[in-house]
Amino acid sequence: MRLVILGAPGAGKGTQATLLAEFYHCPHVSTGEIFRRAIAEGTELGREADRHISKGRLVPDDITIELVKQRIEEPDCEHGFILDGFPRTRSQAIMLDQMLEEKHLGLDRAILLELEEEEIYHRLANRRVCSNCGATYHLDSLPPKVPGICDVCGSSLIQRADDNVETIKERIVIYHELTAPVLSYYEEQGSLLVINGEGDIDEVHKRIVSNLETRSLRANDSC
Ligand code: AP5
Ligand code: MG
Ligand code: ZN
Repeated sequence: MRLVILGAPGAGKGTQATLLAEFYHCPHVSTGEIFRRAIAEGTELGREADRHISKGRLVPDDITIELVKQRIEEPDCEHGFILDGFPRTRSQAIMLDQMLEEKHLGLDRAILLELEEEEIYHRLANRRVCSNCGATYHLDSLPPKVPGICDVCGSSLIQRADDNVETIKERIVIYHELTAPVLSYYEEQGSLLVINGEGDIDEVHKRIVSNLETRSLRANDSC
């Protein structure tokens, strides 16, 4: 399965991509996570990415496209992937198609998770992430077993540096400005699947899977 997950900040891309990756046995490729890891490691890529991410802006296309190119060349992506947060500009979408065409492959679906802006703020204000493994929690809907501690690895939970009101506002503006053309791009191709992102995590997951199965281009596909 080759899927792209689109949606505003906090729409649930990472949460649903993790579940879909388990369901379809594919790697979950999140450009945001790759950048955050690079920032934590203090690499050159991390320093460059941080300059943009901390302001809520996009990392330049040339850097992001090259990174994804390398990542999807890795053997674990050979039979599929769940791309979370990429593409985010029309140029990135065109490049992704070109990369896949060169391998005589195509995307199965681009899934758009739709969510009201008020709920976006509620989700992001209450999100906590593991400082070590990146696992994501929510104080109301997905709390850790022990407050402030990651269930997976026992490290401390933190708020993401870009989860402050000012940066969230900018991320939403950028989403409408630069990522909206990506939605029309996939709509024109007939591959956009719009999913209501409201409801609990499991409910949204089931909604996505049942939509994929009923409208599947290739039945019983997995990777
Ligand atoms: P990225 O990390 O992709 O951030 P984002 O797009 O702003 O999205 P988020 O990760 O904030 O939200 P999400 O949709 O994953 O929601 P989540 O599942 O966590 O990118 C960060 C930055 O990196 C960008 O701003 C940009 O600078 C740069 N970047 C990344 N990709 C790039 C690209 N392609 N080009 C250029 N720059 C790029 O859910 C949110 C919260 O809600 C969590 O707490 C979760 O537990 C909870 N939750 C989820 N679903 C539900 C539910 N159904 N009910 C209740 N709670 C829920
Ligand atoms: Mg995310
Ligand atoms: Zn952890």
